[in-house]
Amino acid sequence: MRKSARIALILGAVALAAGGALYLLRPGPLHKDSAALRLDASTQLINKGEYLARLGDCIACHTEPNGPAFAGGRAMPTPFGALYVPNITPDDETGIGQWTADEFYRMMHTGITRDGSLMYPAMPYPSYTQVTREDSDAIYAYLMSITPVKRKNREHELRFPYNNRDLLIGWRTLYFKEGEYQPNPKQSAEWNRGAYLVKGLGHCAMCHTAVNALGGSSEAKAFEGGMIPNQNWYAPSLTSNREAGLGNWTIKEITDLLQAGVSHRGTVYGPMAEVVFNSLQYMTDEDAKAMAVYLKALPQKDSSPPPTSQARLVSPETMELGRKTYVAQCAMCHGEDGRGHPPDYPPLAGNQSITMESPVNSIRMVLNGGYPPGTKKNPRPHGMPPFSHILNDEEVAAVTTYIRVAWGNSGTPVNAKQVNDLRTLLPE
Ligand code: HEC
Ligand code: HEC
Ligand code: HEC
Repeated sequence: MRKSARIALILGAVALAAGGALYLLRPGPLHKDSAALRLDASTQLINKGEYLARLGDCIACHTEPNGPAFAGGRAMPTPFGALYVPNITPDDETGIGQWTADEFYRMMHTGITRDGSLMYPAMPYPSYTQVTREDSDAIYAYLMSITPVKRKNREHELRFPYNNRDLLIGWRTLYFKEGEYQPNPKQSAEWNRGAYLVKGLGHCAMCHTAVNALGGSSEAKAFEGGMIPNQNWYAPSLTSNREAGLGNWTIKEITDLLQAGVSHRGTVYGPMAEVVFNSLQYMTDEDAKAMAVYLKALPQKDSSPPPTSQARLVSPETMELGRKTYVAQCAMCHGEDGRGHPPDYPPLAGNQSITMESPVNSIRMVLNGGYPPGTKKNPRPHGMPPFSHILNDEEVAAVTTYIRVAWGNSGTPVNAKQVNDLRTLLPE
């Protein structure tokens, strides 16, 4: 009772300000019930906060698989040990029920938590720092409106010396730049909206930036791609047309990829499929377009034409084993000519996510198969079966090599050891 009274008060205060503004704008006599207006404004604020929380993908980390939403407990493995993500439901004792909007904004903006301690950047505050006060307040209002869940936080299990938060002072000096997003007046409103989402709430840099030994990513290397620690997935560079750079994609192809999870160029899979599932599919068409405009315009680092086919590096025997395996196992979906049947079955010919330097993702797809996410725009995706129990290391290497060099693809060959390393790391 006490709690809901307080929430009502907080929301009331915010709504009062908004409601007041509405009143001033309203023409005609002021006879509409002011309590009703206040309610409208607070519902609007909560809805906005819910939308923004989705763009920030808070639920993905702050929810244990099959656990109550936002109640924490999920283990986040890092090279330094496991972090257990806290409860952010508005429970007074175990969640963030006692937090004020100021404290919440300070956390988002500076990475300093309520009790004043420094936070691990596994919470993407290095990106969220760009979020405006207004948007932070909306997310806060939304979180305060959800059902509180009583669930005690679990202590992190980090190895010495990483369990000492004071160490983060050094990390912050090197890698953390505090500050809200500053619009670039030379660019369109749409581009700026896209930049704000990609750099801020979208926290795309958290994965799409090479992560150094301390878990830091520097601004100069923004969006250059890298292996995601402990996950054995490669997050490709968004600034290279030879990886996930989108300079050559149409806006429609990009918005399809982000919202539906499938496109005529390729599909999302692995951790990116989860990002689309939990977060990006909920973007409005306007926000998806803004993001696409910004991503397409990101300066590309490789302006030289891509290298030509490396097929000549492959022995005729390997090429023949790869081709035979492909025809027998893959061609029914991806086509003998590699053009697939997009958007359901992605093309492999000319697909950047196959020819990029790191072959890790393609090897994993062949071993484990996968499903694009089920989304509002593509509710029943077609999947790909796993081949780990059908093909041995040589065959997987040969077929992966084949798809990387056939049809003029500019990838490099893969060997059986690379396949075996991943096979032993991955669950069946
Ligand atoms: C990539 C995973 C990840 C995402 C996404 C994420 N968080 Fe977190 N969050 C964490 C981790 C890990 C911590 C604990 C950090 C620490 O202990 O220093 C944390 C801590 C917090 C805390 C502090 C809680 C406390 O009791 O101290 C709040 C509040 C919070 N997150 C809110 C959010 C919100 C709001 C969003 C979405 C806009 C979000 N988080 C998205 C991983 C994440
Ligand atoms: C949890 C880590 C993670 C986050 C956060 C993340 N990505 Fe990704 N992304 C990946 C991985 C891994 C891949 C490679 C798999 C794939 O291609 O689908 C990828 C692939 C991509 C691709 C290439 C898809 C293709 O088929 O060529 C694009 C474009 C992309 N991401 C954009 C984004 C944007 C924009 C954001 C922020 C809104 C984002 N990513 C956030 C991990 C992530
Ligand atoms: C039953 C149909 C089917 C078969 C057979 C199949 N695939 Fe796929 N493949 C798919 C689908 C659907 C996806 C998208 C999966 C996703 O996004 O998680 C996919 C994705 C891929 C990708 C990632 C490309 C991208 O942009 O998403 C690669 C690489 C790939 N397949 C290679 C192969 C190889 C090599 C074989 C044979 C050994 C094969 N596939 C057999 C349906 C199939």
